[in-house]
Amino acid sequence: MNPLANELNTLIQKHSPAIFEMLSNFGKEIYFPKGILSQSAEAKQGAHKYNATIGIAKEKQGSMYLPCIMRHFKDLKPEQVVNYAPGSGILELRKEWKAKIIRQNPTLKGAPISMPVVTNGLTHGLFLAGDLFVNPEDLIILPDKIWGNYRLIFEVRKNALLRQFSFFSGDGLNLQAIKDVLETEKSREKIILLLNFPNNPTGYSIKTREASKLTQILTDVAKSGQKIITIIDDAYFGMFYEEDVLKESIFASLASTHENLLAIKLDGATKEQFVWGFRTGFMTFGIKNGNDEMYDAMVRKLMGCIRSSISNSSVTSQNVVLSALKNPTFHEEQQAKIQILKGRALKVKEVLSSSKYDDAWDQYPFNAGYFMCLRLKNINAEKLRQHLLKKYGIGVIAVNETDVRIAFSCLEEEFIQDLFDTMYKATKDLS
Ligand SMILES: Cc1ncc(COP(=O)(O)O)c(C=O)c1O
Repeated sequence: MNPLANELNTLIQKHSPAIFEMLSNFGKEIYFPKGILSQSAEAKQGAHKYNATIGIAKEKQGSMYLPCIMRHFKDLKPEQVVNYAPGSGILELRKEWKAKIIRQNPTLKGAPISMPVVTNGLTHGLFLAGDLFVNPEDLIILPDKIWGNYRLIFEVRKNALLRQFSFFSGDGLNLQAIKDVLETEKSREKIILLLNFPNNPTGYSIKTREASKLTQILTDVAKSGQKIITIIDDAYFGMFYEEDVLKESIFASLASTHENLLAIKLDGATKEQFVWGFRTGFMTFGIKNGNDEMYDAMVRKLMGCIRSSISNSSVTSQNVVLSALKNPTFHEEQQAKIQILKGRALKVKEVLSSSKYDDAWDQYPFNAGYFMCLRLKNINAEKLRQHLLKKYGIGVIAVNETDVRIAFSCLEEEFIQDLFDTMYKATKDLS
């Protein structure tokens, strides 16, 4: 093993033997090299005469750039647009994001969490969690309603075993199903639980009382000696439309419950700031009694994963996101857009409250996010999807044989009634 990896492992083991045991074989081997990046960081401090370290081009004391490119970025300096970002992301952005997490999650109450590390969107954060923690045959527990890409990332790439639990019981989360799966997997030394609220595809987000019960269930698992890694996909954080929905991330209550429970928060600008193509996400660790030295070692491992996969994330996107976060109008602008999505969600609820659709479908519970799902009663979802597309020019997603996902985030409120009426007509065409 490389001595730098050994150094990081020793630090992690010293402060958190549980996290060391959670690491995958790759996670144990990975380190951040003292190569070009750290030498050039040193040169940035000390090379007052000539700095000939890093692979960019410079002129007139600044970064070289093409005017035809820079003309698109009037408020940013060339360095903020064309340079490489640090592997872990722009420090100021990471600090701002951490402050935002703390502000939006009062339950953390000062619990120590790591500095967020910038990822190339949440997908990359999931991939990095796979790198650090998942060995072939490791078990990942997740709902039966998921974003399909989890399969590619964890099952196909990492050869993990996926165990799905039934997501809903009545109009809420099926906590008993989670408890049951955990019970049957008690003999494993380590398990991974993947949670996503607000959920894709259903638009369901955990309610406050469910969150405290789930925290208790997971704390009991950790207390029994089993190591548990919770990966929290907060892609749609903040888009909560109903009173009883938890307005924080479940990360906040899991981040300091027990030394055997590691919480990993994946979030980002993608959906929250409506910048899907920017590819700016974040990964943050939280564990009871986590300290700076241990978190720093974990961050350096993460930087090794990033360096060896994508090297670093777009500096341009990071600078725009940072500037937005510091802009005094940011909160107001963001809330205005969330209100539009909330208006659409409430309109969907109003339209679907009519009994006229009862013979065609049921709706799954939803209270947040971008989506909602219907469970068809008589028609195959893929058949309906194709028919809707060909005959009516309407696109929806067939999630499986029975379920259809509708992204109300893409629908103006005034079209919602017509959409469901047409869908209903389409089910009649086919029956
Ligand atoms: C639940 C969930 N997680 C992660 C992602 C991916 O986010 P990103 O575009 O930042 O990679 C999506 C995108 O659809 C999603 O629905």
